[in-house]
Amino acid sequence: MTTTRITLNPNDSIATINPNIYGHFAEHLGRCIYDGIWVGEDSPIPNIDGFRTDIIEALRRMKAPIIRWPGGCFADDYHWQDGIGPRSQRPRRINIHWGEVVESNHVGTQEFVRFCRLVGAEPYFCGNVGSGTPRELRDWIEYCNFPDSGPNGSTWAQQRAADGSPEPLNVRYWGVGNENWGCGGNFSPEDYCTEFRRYASFVRGFGMKLNVIACGPANNDIEWTDRFFRKLNKDYWPFNNIDGFAAHYYCGTAGTATEYTEEEWYRLLEKALRMEELVVQQRAAMDAWDPQRRIGLVIDEWGTWHPVEKGTNPAFLYQQNTIRDALVAASTLDIFNRHADKVVMANIAQTVNVLQAVVLTEGEKMLVTPTGYVYEMYARHQGAKSLRMRVDTPEISFKKTNVLQSSWQSALQPGEKMEGSLPTVAGSASLKDDKLFLTLTNSHASDAVEVAVDLLGGAKIGKAAGQVLSGEIHAHNTFDAPEQVIPQPLAVDCEDAQIHLTLPPASVAAVEVQL
Ligand code: AHR
Repeated sequence: MTTTRITLNPNDSIATINPNIYGHFAEHLGRCIYDGIWVGEDSPIPNIDGFRTDIIEALRRMKAPIIRWPGGCFADDYHWQDGIGPRSQRPRRINIHWGEVVESNHVGTQEFVRFCRLVGAEPYFCGNVGSGTPRELRDWIEYCNFPDSGPNGSTWAQQRAADGSPEPLNVRYWGVGNENWGCGGNFSPEDYCTEFRRYASFVRGFGMKLNVIACGPANNDIEWTDRFFRKLNKDYWPFNNIDGFAAHYYCGTAGTATEYTEEEWYRLLEKALRMEELVVQQRAAMDAWDPQRRIGLVIDEWGTWHPVEKGTNPAFLYQQNTIRDALVAASTLDIFNRHADKVVMANIAQTVNVLQAVVLTEGEKMLVTPTGYVYEMYARHQGAKSLRMRVDTPEISFKKTNVLQSSWQSALQPGEKMEGSLPTVAGSASLKDDKLFLTLTNSHASDAVEVAVDLLGGAKIGKAAGQVLSGEIHAHNTFDAPEQVIPQPLAVDCEDAQIHLTLPPASVAAVEVQL
């Protein structure tokens, strides 16, 4: 068994971990909203105001801080006025991006905010730039946030009251379009920047400070970032109504969701780790224009993207989720924690039944995926101080086969090396209220690892408790066996200023230590 040594000093903090790094994303896509979240008040499936009780409870356990809605690509073809007023009278539209299915608009603004309140999360709305108008976006904000809905108030606020909310909905986070380099209008960075400036010129808080988020690049496309900010800052005069800039990174797949070789296990984990260079390089590109970091780096879509589950609608992006997805989620969240000075929000795609979902449903059945359990286990990092830590761990090296293996994305990408490597153990640490919280991954497919953690700075260790999520590399939860991969207690030994534990192969661990 190999040994990994970790050194950290509880006094050496990087920054506070923004809770919104643990955010989610729910799009009108496949069975995410309808079936997944919403079943309607008359459903035999237990619900609160039409929203599945089991999903609300699961997201509460994960302490979901923020949920992005209504898309994704859907957002740039969504007209918010379709989703207000009596449900029976709402127009039925075609969801052009996701299978051309009929969208009933039964979940609209009021419903989605209600869902967020039930979960305890903030709503983050994405406005329509691709096929909308600046007026539509400013009216939506007025409908949500203008305080006075009485006789002397505004017509949109009165409409909100008529729809059931005399009080403002106080939606703080507003995206100005989604993937506007692609499905959101196929803009160049300069053209999108012009649109962004125009839309954001009419965005008003109506008494509250909004968080206005611009569309960032696909993956780590530095050119998009540089050209967007160059235009923003050099064109006529600088424009300031911008608080965030959102990149998207999907690490994709290797094999399928549940069928992959050991090589494909490593290949996907290695691709997931590229999030770190994205965060560092995108922030550096932004720093050139925004050295004070007034504009936050957001990753408002990320996750695995496997071929869809056999027998399901290919446009619905339904996929299973194994311990490999849990390792991707944990490694990514650890990257965000380690770069708490750079990342202000991140939203995994997507909440229920789509891509790397935290929960899957089938009729009245529901299961928490291994990824969902990672969110439960990692919740204590939210709002804690991220600590710098040094990890001495062996590298895992693996050879890549340059042939299609079990699926379409396994061939080498242009420029990709034949040899791959990744650290055996990685993780992050944080401190809140004299409690040290450490999360770790062991990416080795078959070997356990001994871990010794040395605490510097004279820290005294009190009680410690650990949890671990592990399994054979294909392990996953099914509706018939929903508890194949669930957190188990992990033995943690403490002596003086040292912590010892053993990570099983293919595992994610969380350890809390009282200092
Ligand atoms: O999450 C699925 C889709 O992926 C989103 O709609 C889009 O923004 C991205 O390309």
